[in-house]
Amino acid sequence: MKLLNILLAIGLLVFNAGIQAETLSAGKPVDIVVYRSPTCDCCGKWLEHLKKNNFNVKDIVTEDVQAIKNKYGVSEAMASCHTAIVDDYVIEGHVPANDIMKLLKTKPKIVGIAVPGMPSGAPGMEMGDRKDSYNVMSFDKKNHYEIFNSYEGTQ
Ligand code: CU
Ligand code: CU
Repeated sequence: MKLLNILLAIGLLVFNAGIQAETLSAGKPVDIVVYRSPTCDCCGKWLEHLKKNNFNVKDIVTEDVQAIKNKYGVSEAMASCHTAIVDDYVIEGHVPANDIMKLLKTKPKIVGIAVPGMPSGAPGMEMGDRKDSYNVMSFDKKNHYEIFNSYEGTQ
């Protein structure tokens, strides 16, 4: 009985992985759940960025985004305004859609990726010509950080 359960679990894992890969290669919309506070303006703009880039957004407005960050292991060093979940990965802050796609295709063993704080020029944080340099960071369960991608600013 136990063995059967294990086999079923493995089957389900393979099946799930297959669905995701198929979704990506077929260019089908990717499901993402976003938690954001009702008072955050830039969050809404980031949602628009995702929608334009073929994401199917489930928008969850909550008064307590910190509780979501605690639940999913987003440390203070990685924190930004909104927190999103896609295919069991955590996406924190104004991460460009391209980087999320890269994450889903490469499937590294990390908890998620983040753009800490709110740099100008990141998707949803457009402020005219001003663009900060910023990094997209990856983070794991032990709070090890690495640079996942870098963007050059205008200054
Ligand atoms: Cu923001
Ligand atoms: Cu936000």
